Amino acid sequence: MVTVHIPVLLHECINYLITDKSGVYVDCTLGTGGHFSEIARNTDKDAVLIGFDADPQAIEYCKQNLNIKQKTIYVNSNFEFLRKFCFRNGFPKVNGILMDLGMSSFALDNPERGIAFSKNGPLDMRFSPEIKMSAADFINNAEFESLRKVIWEYGEEKNSVRISNAIIKAREIKRISTTIELADVIKKITPSRFHNKTLSRVFQAIRIHINQELDILEDTLQQTLDTLSVGSRLVIITYHSLEDRIVKKFIKRETTSCLCPPEFPICTCNHVAKFKKLSKKIILPSKEEIKTNSRARSAKLRVVELIT
Ligand SMILES: C[S@@+](CC[C@H](N)C(=O)[O-])C[C@H]1O[C@@H](n2cnc3c(N)ncnc32)[C@H](O)[C@@H]1O
Repeated sequence: MVTVHIPVLLHECINYLITDKSGVYVDCTLGTGGHFSEIARNTDKDAVLIGFDADPQAIEYCKQNLNIKQKTIYVNSNFEFLRKFCFRNGFPKVNGILMDLGMSSFALDNPERGIAFSKNGPLDMRFSPEIKMSAADFINNAEFESLRKVIWEYGEEKNSVRISNAIIKAREIKRISTTIELADVIKKITPSRFHNKTLSRVFQAIRIHINQELDILEDTLQQTLDTLSVGSRLVIITYHSLEDRIVKKFIKRETTSCLCPPEFPICTCNHVAKFKKLSKKIILPSKEEIKTNSRARSAKLRVVELIT
């Protein structure tokens, strides 16, 4: 039984994304195609829909289950190839890009993917089988400093030193191969009231590291500037503070016309704003949406439009 992902902020995303019903739209994070299908329902037959997912199982699910009338291109690849793919395949400029970051429930709820600490499975965490290093490879081979840095920087976990030491001690006795084995190592040195928070942070940190999520996000955001046509929109949902910080910083920079220090009498940077914000405030899910879909609780939606 597979879990179909419930799309977050669905109508808000689609209302902002679609500016031309016959346009070319890229969903960088297809998942089980909740947003993608809604883009299809809200565009005309001559629109073109491109869906990226690094996860071959997500692509296969969409191919088998979505019934889309438009020309549809499924791309089983990391979205870091966004610009290259669009350019090489005859879509140098597109009419909208959607990014709904992170993992889908489809992958999270599958114990075989080894992502969730609550489900026993092989310690894997890779978005795609093409990624060489699994979470188990990292946990069992990384040096102390590398473990500590990942847990601290990507998990913002203040007990990164204790946790890294505990991992190293445990793996000297036996390889840590499953999600539950890793969770047990962490639980042993963590007060029970902090179990869930600590495990969430450490598992998130390892997943971000294995999939290089933050570097790829930064790079791909930059690519959207070359890939969108003027008047089209980037719609992006983040789920944790690290990715949100990157998106916020990118949007701040690209909606600002001069980046010179305030004390400079005249502008020397010649930076021009490429985007304008479409909503002053971050768009958050309603209480009703969070009630029916707990994954929505940490979602933050930002939307910008290319102006030059
Ligand atoms: C939150 S889910 C998207 C759910 C989707 N909007 C839906 O309605 O079903 C994120 C998806 O993006 C994929 N993904 C995350 N980062 C990716 C990346 N850098 N490149 C390609 N796919 C990525 C994941 O494999 C996952 O399927």
